[in-house]
Amino acid sequence: MFRYFPTLLNAGQVIHSWTSKPTVARCLTAIKQMEKPKVLVTRKDIPKSALSILEEKCELEVMPNESPISRTDLLDKISGKHGIFCFLTDKIDKEVLDHAGSQLKVIGTMSVGYDHLDINEIKKRNITVGYTPGVLTAPTAELTVALTLATTRKLFEAHDEIANGGWAKCSWGPLWMCGSGLVGAKVGIVGLGSIGLAVAKRLLPFEVAKIMYCGRHEKPEAAAQVSGEYVTFDQLLQESDVVIITCPLNDTTRNMFGPTQFALMKSNAVLINTSRGGVVDQDALVKALKSGQIAAAGLDVMTPEPLPADHELTKLKNCVLIPHIGSATLQTRTTMATMTAQNIVNALEGKSMPAQLC
Ligand code: GLV
Repeated sequence: MFRYFPTLLNAGQVIHSWTSKPTVARCLTAIKQMEKPKVLVTRKDIPKSALSILEEKCELEVMPNESPISRTDLLDKISGKHGIFCFLTDKIDKEVLDHAGSQLKVIGTMSVGYDHLDINEIKKRNITVGYTPGVLTAPTAELTVALTLATTRKLFEAHDEIANGGWAKCSWGPLWMCGSGLVGAKVGIVGLGSIGLAVAKRLLPFEVAKIMYCGRHEKPEAAAQVSGEYVTFDQLLQESDVVIITCPLNDTTRNMFGPTQFALMKSNAVLINTSRGGVVDQDALVKALKSGQIAAAGLDVMTPEPLPADHELTKLKNCVLIPHIGSATLQTRTTMATMTAQNIVNALEGKSMPAQLC
């Protein structure tokens, strides 16, 4: 892979004939280091198992923080690297790719979503991209169901009532803290991909009345597993008691939930989003929640992330917010990290990746 390697090896042999053994060992170690491709890891808090995979085959530069790399550092540090281990918080666009240089061969993102990557610019440069599909489907579906229950049954608001004295005041009230149940509910899934399907499967035992879904194409095989009905987006909005967004963010889905869509939804409807904040026009959502146009929302994803602590959404009782933790089990994040590391190493060795996006 590295054309200068044979020259350096010859140099090592020449040095060997001239010098003492420890010096030779040091020289050969240095030469071995030089032969390794350079990889940037944009933050330090990744599982050790992933670092070990990378360390064995690459010369690593690991950023020292447990927070996203700054834009300035990203532009600076990617220069001269052959690979980058990045996260959904790292925007890899034309400017970053221009700074990287033509030797950049692989981008490994520790995520299934890739809206932070400029895929067109990446493809133009023949850079391969590895990501982490599949391994986070179940935990994300699990979290989506948890968020749906927390929102429909007002769990966070009910918790707060204990701390703020509300419970002490009203004791047990016949209509106090009443939410909506899932039994008999019509559920609309926006995007019946692997996560959408896994959510639908987990909701069926709650005795929902019907699963509907919409998306670019009808998916008869997946839908058959949950007796799902393919409907138009408008029909899904008009009929669903619970609307769950599990589609990716792209130019077609950006802001697909705006004032017009909220106006079509039922007043008892609950909106759940575990996809990307950008699918929802957030100002329109705030209005819909405040006016009672829809009953409630449960969001794992928002715009921007992190959401400012004093954002209007944080003040609404009918909005349950959690900080983008869909795939956050230790086991899943460890698998995602090792998969990302293996994607990078394989690409640099010219082998096929565990999960190649392009
Ligand atoms: C999480 O949002 C992911 O894309 O992995």
